[in-house]
Amino acid sequence: MTTREKVQVREVGLRDGLQMVQTILSTEQKLEWCRRMVDAGSVEIEVTSFVPPKIVPQFADAAEVARGALEIPNLHAAALVPNLKGAQRAIEVGLRKVHYVLSASNEHNLKNVRRTTAESVEDFRRIVVERDAGGSTSRSVTLGAGVATAFGCTISGRVEESTVLGLVETLLEAGADEITIADTVGYANPGQVRALMRKVLAITKDVPVACHFHDTRGLGLANVVAALDAGVRSFDSSLGGLGGCPFAPNATGNINTEDTVFLLESEGLDTGIDINALLAIRETIAGWLPGEPFTGAIARAGLPKTFDLREAVVA
Ligand code: COA
Ligand code: ZN
Repeated sequence: MTTREKVQVREVGLRDGLQMVQTILSTEQKLEWCRRMVDAGSVEIEVTSFVPPKIVPQFADAAEVARGALEIPNLHAAALVPNLKGAQRAIEVGLRKVHYVLSASNEHNLKNVRRTTAESVEDFRRIVVERDAGGSTSRSVTLGAGVATAFGCTISGRVEESTVLGLVETLLEAGADEITIADTVGYANPGQVRALMRKVLAITKDVPVACHFHDTRGLGLANVVAALDAGVRSFDSSLGGLGGCPFAPNATGNINTEDTVFLLESEGLDTGIDINALLAIRETIAGWLPGEPFTGAIARAGLPKTFDLREAVVA
């Protein structure tokens, strides 16, 4: 037996995946999805998003989902928040992990959260101050900060590396416990990912860093390999490849969890996740969400017969 290096796959299907779909799932369905993901070996799940129900009705039950998720053993439940109010709601419900997001593209930020990127940075500072001023439970909440549209923007086009790196430095200085670099609109290519992520990791040092890729133009998994080359060991993905930002034109799904786990395990890394269990969950979710565009090569073609030999191959 070899001891394989661990890599983290964070499930975002319940958040990024569900924010675009037409059918509103019940709280119980969302929690069943969470429970089954944990049984499949998933540890980190972004279980919901604390946004106004008027903007994304799918997340009207954010507090109930978060409360239910907190009762699932072995699950590190996180939620996305776009502003201070969202963070307050998430912390109040007892979540231990909160993911704040702002966009490197000012134009996307204005569309997504109705304020400039600079204003979003100020909001993040207020969130850190509030978290730190709270009781011991509040103070122990992990605050992640995500930089969306880090590789380009469907509205404004090019996003400079220096803009992203500057934001990462500012967010770290403001108190971010973790950084996520997101290709919200699927513009990234492997060369760009390798170059940017090496620079990001040089700044973040011991602060954990994750990548969040969308497969809009077919380069999602190639970008995962490039990020691995750069040293990233944490990735967001969505079961069945659901997802996309409602505030970015032509956005499509996240990289597919089943295919991402297959890729990472094939690279000799240990995700702790059982792909066959993922395929079974996917079938259930697809039944709940008729007409939604599920993607995935492994779901279509099945695992190769040689796949179980992977440990022998990397030994
Ligand atoms: N959760 C619940 N209610 C919220 C809220 C939150 N996170 N943030 C604001 N509100 C409420 C306010 O209390 C206010 O309520 P009222 O009208 O009863 O007084 C109302 O919403 C408007 O508040 P305001 O601060 O003016 O927000 P806004 O209208 O400028 O919208 C965002 C800002 C950030 C809340 C909104 O643009 C948003 O939710 N964007 C996220 C979009 C998204 O999910 N993108 C995909 C993920 S990246
Ligand atoms: Zn996304």
